Amino acid sequence: MTVKEVMVIGAGQMGAGIALVFARSGYEVKLYDADIEALKRGKQYIEKIFEKDVAKGKMEADTKRRALNRLQLVVDLEADPITADFIIEAVVEKLEVKKDVFRRLDELAPAHSLFATNTSSLPITEIAAVTGRAEQFIGMHFMNPVPVMKLVEIIRGLETSDATYQTVQQLTEALGKQDVEVKDFPGFASNRILMPMINEAVYTVFEGVASIEDVDQVMKLGMNHPMGPLQLADFIGLDTCLSIMEILHEGFGDSKYRPCPLLRQYVQAGRLGKKAGKGFYSYT
Ligand code: CAA
Ligand code: NAD
Repeated sequence: MTVKEVMVIGAGQMGAGIALVFARSGYEVKLYDADIEALKRGKQYIEKIFEKDVAKGKMEADTKRRALNRLQLVVDLEADPITADFIIEAVVEKLEVKKDVFRRLDELAPAHSLFATNTSSLPITEIAAVTGRAEQFIGMHFMNPVPVMKLVEIIRGLETSDATYQTVQQLTEALGKQDVEVKDFPGFASNRILMPMINEAVYTVFEGVASIEDVDQVMKLGMNHPMGPLQLADFIGLDTCLSIMEILHEGFGDSKYRPCPLLRQYVQAGRLGKKAGKGFYSYT
């Protein structure tokens, strides 16, 4: 199927990044968030990255103007009929919130629209089942920061059709990204590997083995990681990290995935990382 118009639900760091890469690649994009301030911040992020690209000579000013013209903000999902061929959701990592979003979209979107979720860890099959179009439903998992990272994990639900899979694979390619196919298991491949490392880094601090800064130095200087695990956790969002650990813990029923109590306390304290101005590090 040919996709011309894309709708992105959720304008946080992932939704804004996803809207950016689709607009940059020539798609008409509608961006929606339940929080109007988040929607404005999402638009500002996109403008800022495009401006940087123009300043660096990576993008023509005219290309930027056309890309921004292709982007429309949606403040009320019900105000106008949805016309998107492809709808991707990037709201918070909570199963019930995502199910509610897709129940609503299933009623509002045209019958031909494909649905994708950018979930980091939740079951694709279970979310798809709340819609009447499970064969048109798929996991399309971008990495953060979306404009930079090459990888997209594509996850089929039990009912996902080959046609849906092929369309999403073609979209990934059109965005200049590289796909890998992953089974519908908790955390897929990326977060099954990454999150236990981050959680272990939190335990290393919690148990007094090393300081926050030193844990990050170990992984940056010792293992050549671009960011230390705690810096990366702040970048991802500690609420998202905790949700993913809980999903791994519940999904596998294995104590090796138990979230570190310190991670839970940081989230309870509202220290959600970079987006909140405070996490393991301070950003003010
Ligand atoms: N948005 C858009 N572009 C960004 C950006 C952002 N938030 N942050 C950095 N960039 C761009 C910069 O503009 C720069 O672009 P140019 O090459 O055109 O100049 C480029 O990225 C490199 O940036 P910097 O020189 O400022 O900094 P850096 O070399 O340290 O790279 C980084 C920044 C790419 C973020 C790097 O630190 C990195 O790769 N970190 C690890 C990221 C990672 O592991 N992501 C996966 C997270 S897990 C996930 O996404 C899955 C999940 O479900 C949780
Ligand atoms: P975020 O907190 O930056 O943004 C989430 C946005 O969703 C917020 O702007 C919020 O207002 C909006 N929202 C919440 N409920 C909504 C609803 N019912 N309808 C519309 N909008 C709603 O989170 P994020 O980091 O962008 O993560 C979004 C999704 O992407 C999550 O599922 C997360 O697991 C996944 N993801 C995150 C990362 C990462 O590194 N942060 C990487 C890959 C995937």
